[in-house]
Amino acid sequence: MSVKKPEIKSKRDDFPSTKTRSGKLLEDLDDDVLRVNKLKKEFKKNHSLKDSNNEDDDQSWQEQSEYFKNIDTKSFRQYDLACSRVKDFYEEQHEKQTVAYNIQARINFKTKVRAKMTVWEGLERLNKLLDESDPDTELTQIDHALQTAEAIRKDGRPRWMQLVGLIHDLGKLLYFFDSKGQWDVVGDTFPVGCKFSKKIIYPDSFSKNPDFFNPLYNTKYGIYSKNCGLDSVMLSWGHDEYMYHIAKANSTLPKEGLAMIRYHSFYPWHQDGAYSYLMDDHDKEMREAVRAFNKYDLYSKNDEQYDVEELKKYYIDLIDEFFPEKIIEF
Ligand SMILES: [Fe+2]
Ligand SMILES: [Fe+2]
Repeated sequence: MSVKKPEIKSKRDDFPSTKTRSGKLLEDLDDDVLRVNKLKKEFKKNHSLKDSNNEDDDQSWQEQSEYFKNIDTKSFRQYDLACSRVKDFYEEQHEKQTVAYNIQARINFKTKVRAKMTVWEGLERLNKLLDESDPDTELTQIDHALQTAEAIRKDGRPRWMQLVGLIHDLGKLLYFFDSKGQWDVVGDTFPVGCKFSKKIIYPDSFSKNPDFFNPLYNTKYGIYSKNCGLDSVMLSWGHDEYMYHIAKANSTLPKEGLAMIRYHSFYPWHQDGAYSYLMDDHDKEMREAVRAFNKYDLYSKNDEQYDVEELKKYYIDLIDEFFPEKIIEF
């Protein structure tokens, strides 16, 4: 009797090549979105638009950053807000991020293992594929990961936060697994299942989202309740939410670190004070942590490229410290 050999899956099957060519697009788009957010932040600062939700700022997170004191953050204002790529992207994202899509994405996430590898291998794969898509790329995902982590390290922040800097965007691996495009990987995030805030970028584009007309989902609280806490709220699906669940299940990162991963693209909330009526006391603490992290994500992008091989050992030790199982199911 002949026994049929099990089918051996090629490594490339995990990362369909159809998407590698557009990997550069994902990277460009993410840079554009970050630039818009930098611009908004600088505009707010320069025009003293006081956010009433900032009053409860935790001073310990507000210490002057050594790393940024010599950086001219105003230089980030040189950007055309009407960038059509960003507008087009949000038109699509705001139309397609529905409650139904989010539930399905979460079911897919929980019922599938997309790849098994170490965190460092994940960073290298993400980096390599984005590189493959464009050999002229100057700043790669691993550069951004190291720049963020090194800025945090140079400021003497805790080791767990350095690791958050390194892995906060690792969820972009989703793009090579089962994402539907760029709209469910990158971009600012927002709650689904309740009224879309006007503080979300390009809020008018939600008029194409079917949930916009659904009376279950289009009221202030929608399917949630007053101050229910963001742990109970479904944020739009993307690299942040995906990586948060991976880190929560596999690491010993503190709650602040997990919040930095989950909320780092939730600009309407951490930058513009939206959805305070869904927050509980725990979220107020977490928001200060996210705000402290955000500046490293935004302002560490520069031309300085770190030597990956030189830093590799330091960061692999750091990963091992907080991810007890070396091989992670992504
Ligand atoms: Fe990100
Ligand atoms: Fe980032």
